[in-house]
Amino acid sequence: MALERKKLFIKTYGCQMNVYDSERMRDVLAPLGYEPSDMPDDADLVILNTCHIREKAAEKVYSELGRLRPLKEGKSETASPMTIAVAGCVAQAEGEEIMRRAPVVDLVVGPQTYHKLPELIAQTHRARGERLETEFEPVAKFDALAGDRQVEGYSAFLTVQEGCDKFCTFCVVPYTRGAEWSRPVDQIVAEARQLAAKGVREITLLGQNVNAYHGEPPSGREADGPWGLGRLLRHLALIGGLDRIRYTTSHPNDMDDELIAAHGDLDALMPYLHLPVQSCSDKVLKAMNRRHTFEDYALLIERIRAARPDIAISGDFIVGFPGETDADFEATLQGVREINYASAFSFKYSRRPGTPGAALPMQVPEEVSSQRLAALQALLESQQTDFNRQQIGRRLPVLFERAGREPGQLHGRSPYLQAIHCDAPSGLIGQIAEVEIAGATRNSLTGKLAEKAGAA
Ligand code: SAH
Ligand code: SF4
Ligand code: F3S
Repeated sequence: MALERKKLFIKTYGCQMNVYDSERMRDVLAPLGYEPSDMPDDADLVILNTCHIREKAAEKVYSELGRLRPLKEGKSETASPMTIAVAGCVAQAEGEEIMRRAPVVDLVVGPQTYHKLPELIAQTHRARGERLETEFEPVAKFDALAGDRQVEGYSAFLTVQEGCDKFCTFCVVPYTRGAEWSRPVDQIVAEARQLAAKGVREITLLGQNVNAYHGEPPSGREADGPWGLGRLLRHLALIGGLDRIRYTTSHPNDMDDELIAAHGDLDALMPYLHLPVQSCSDKVLKAMNRRHTFEDYALLIERIRAARPDIAISGDFIVGFPGETDADFEATLQGVREINYASAFSFKYSRRPGTPGAALPMQVPEEVSSQRLAALQALLESQQTDFNRQQIGRRLPVLFERAGREPGQLHGRSPYLQAIHCDAPSGLIGQIAEVEIAGATRNSLTGKLAEKAGAA
C-alpha cells in the first residue's frame, strides 16, 4: 500500500543546534510520509522548535500558537486535521505551562526525545489527547537518529556535544539541554563521511559547549581515553571531500593546547572562532560565574592568534547584567577595543526565572541597558566593517552555496565566514573558487572570480 502523503511544517527558533535538530526531525518523520512544506496553512503536522534563551524568544511561541489556532480550527472537520507539536528548549523548560496555556498544542517534546516523534504522533492521533515528553536521554536520541540524513546544499551542521555543566548565572541552557554529553567519535565520523559522500564540502560541529567535547574514542583505541575536540578535528580533517571544518560555540576555559594547535596545523579548520566573553569587567564576569578574568581571555586570544595569525574572532556580549555599573560597561568597551572583533552578537540581559541571576539585586534599568547596547553595537559594527574592508584587494577562496539575489550572481562564504556576492556561473555552486575582493560593507563582500577560477 502506498504511504499516505502528509505535509510537515517546522519553524525553528534559536541556535544552530535547533536548526540541526529540526533537520533530524524531518529525517525521522520522512519514512512516515511527511514531506516538508514551507508554510503552515495546509500542514498536517506543525512543529515549533523553540528557544528559551531570552524572554522575547520564549514569548514568540505563544504568539505563533495564536496565529496557528484559526488554521487548526479551519482544518478540524476535514479529513486531514492539523497536529501541533512544541519542541525545543521552551518545551523542556515550560512544558506543563504550554499544555495549560495553549490547548491548541497536541504534543510537547523536549530536545532529547525527538527520536520518539513517530511513536508520539501515532499516540496523539489515536487519543487526540495531551502528550508531554521531556526526559533527558541524549544517548538514546543520537543512537536513534544515527540513520540516513537528507542534506540540501554544501554546508551542514553536525551536533557532536549537547548540554552544559557551566551554569553561568544568566543562562537557561543547563536546565533546558541538561548535563554535558559528547557523542562517540565513531558515530560522528560515520555521519561526517555520509555528509561528504552526499557532496557536503563544509561541516560545522555544534555543541552548547563544543570545545568541552570529550567523546568515546574509536573502537580499539579505548586505552587512549576520551578524545578532545582538537583530536576529533584532526581525525575529521582526514575525510576526503570535507574541505572546510568549523565549530561553535566554545567556552574560553575549554580552549586547550591541542585545540589551539589544531588552528595552526589544519588547513581544513577555517580561521574563524566564536569565543564569547560576555563582559570584560572582572566583577561582572565573576557574578556571571564565567570562571575566568578578562586578562585570561585576552591572553588566550593572543595564543590563538599566535597559532593562526589571520584568525577572525567573534564573540557574544551581554549588557545590563545585574550590578553592571558605568565603569564595568566602560571596561567592556575597552576590552572590545583591545581584542578587535571580526563579528559579534550582543544582547540586553534578559532575566530568566529559575536562574541564579534572576534573584540578584541591582537589576539594571531598561533604558540604561538600551543605551549601553547601542554604544557597544556601534563599536562592534565599526570593527566588523573594518575587518571586512581589510579583505579588499585580497584573493579569498569562496565556497559558493547558492544563487545570489541578482541574476548571474552567486552567494558564498569566505574562510572568515563573511558573506560574498560575486558574478559566477551556476556550475560553481558547491565549488570553492578564488575571488578577488573588490568591495566591502558591514555585512558582506563583493568581488570577481580570479583568473584560474573553477578549479576546486
Ligand atoms: N554556550 C554558549 C552560549 C549559548 S547562549 C557560551 O557559553 O558562550 C548564546 C548567547 O546568548 C550567550 O553567549 C549569551 O551572550 C546570550 N545569552 C544567554 N543567556 C542570556 C540572557 N539571560 N540574557 C541575554 N543574553 C543571554
Ligand atoms: Fe549558558 Fe554558560 Fe553554558 Fe554557555 S557556558 S550554555 S552561557 S551556562
Ligand atoms: Fe535557545 Fe535552546 Fe539554543 S535556549 S539558544 S535553542 S540551546
